Amino acid sequence: MPHVVTDSCTACRYTECVALCPVDCFHAAEDRLYIDPEACIDCAACVPVCPVKAIVDAFDLESRADELIALNRQRSRELPVIDSKTAALPTAEARRAALGY
Ligand code: F3S
Repeated sequence: MPHVVTDSCTACRYTECVALCPVDCFHAAEDRLYIDPEACIDCAACVPVCPVKAIVDAFDLESRADELIALNRQRSRELPVIDSKTAALPTAEARRAALGY
């Protein structure tokens, strides 16, 4: 199963993840990122660098896997690829604290 970006990315968008992706599978919305599940090769290089643990292996999501893969697929088709780091959102630190990280 591919990796997916979860809602923990929303209002953070640290983009530490994109610099490590060897296949440029991240797509950017204004408030968060998504992973194209067809492009993701499951290398997991992005997982440890996310400050809010927003990227997970869909296999670990069990009942939510299909839903989150479909959401990431749909939004990836609508949004541009992001392949380099940008500044985190102004709300990132507050959101990170609210998530307990
Ligand atoms: Fe989002 Fe984490 Fe990447 S907050 S942009 S998944 S580093």
